[in-house]
Amino acid sequence: MKIAIIGGTGDQGLGLALRFAKVGEEVIVGSRDLTKAENAVDQMKNLLDDDLPNVTAMTNQDATDNGDIIILTVPLQAQMVTLRSIKDHLNGEIFVDATSPLEGCLGGKPTRYVDLWEGSAAERSAEFLGDQANVVSAFCNISASSLTSINEDVECDCLVSGDDHEANLLVMKLAEKIEGVNAIECGALENARIVEKLTPLLINLNIRNKIKNAGLRITNLN
Ligand SMILES: NC(=O)c1ccc[n+]([C@@H]2O[C@H](COP(=O)([O-])OP(=O)(O)OC[C@H]3O[C@@H](n4cnc5c(N)ncnc54)[C@H](OP(=O)(O)O)[C@@H]3O)[C@@H](O)[C@H]2O)c1
Repeated sequence: MKIAIIGGTGDQGLGLALRFAKVGEEVIVGSRDLTKAENAVDQMKNLLDDDLPNVTAMTNQDATDNGDIIILTVPLQAQMVTLRSIKDHLNGEIFVDATSPLEGCLGGKPTRYVDLWEGSAAERSAEFLGDQANVVSAFCNISASSLTSINEDVECDCLVSGDDHEANLLVMKLAEKIEGVNAIECGALENARIVEKLTPLLINLNIRNKIKNAGLRITNLN
């Protein structure tokens, strides 16, 4: 299964790419700019000290054409322009939205959530993409700092929400390939409204505790 990461040159996308590449998954690092994607792949090779034959650099459009599962990791202000640029390249694939609608993306505080008309960033993707994609919300509470600390386990849960149970299960399986991560299905996509709101809280806790990797663990589930 080829994992295409749209905006894979940024902190979150590169962190996910590193984690999936490390366990031997096929990863496509997508960017608006092919050279930037190639530089990101070179950075991954250095960090993992590996030639990474399983990792390719592509434009976001080519990454979408070639990916079996697509992960969106761009900031809120880039979400719609990016979706518009790849929509025609989608063909009903599972589309994982990791966007957190932070006020910081719009010039405000990173510790505040921005209310979106659609309810959440993931629902905004689902509404815009329609039948072109099967949207699942995941990874929006996992810090890039933990993902890029590749020699340490990522000690947190990945909260997964989506309207298609089978798609949720596949994304959970993918999330659990990241060492230390436990995936939890939260139900329908509208639960992303709650899950995305936890990210500014985690950022607040990072600031208060002078750390970069606050994460969530939910206990006592069956
Ligand atoms: N960073 C974290 O710790 C973290 C944690 C949880 C969730 N998230 C979420 O993950 C997403 C990505 O976060 P990030 O920190 O990785 O973001 P980022 O580094 O600021 O940006 C990621 C990539 O998005 C593309 N991009 C940036 N601005 C753009 C624009 N105006 N138009 C089109 N593309 C643009 C760029 O890729 P190219 O220039 O290569 O196209 C960039 O490398 C966000 O929604 C964030 O809320 C982040």
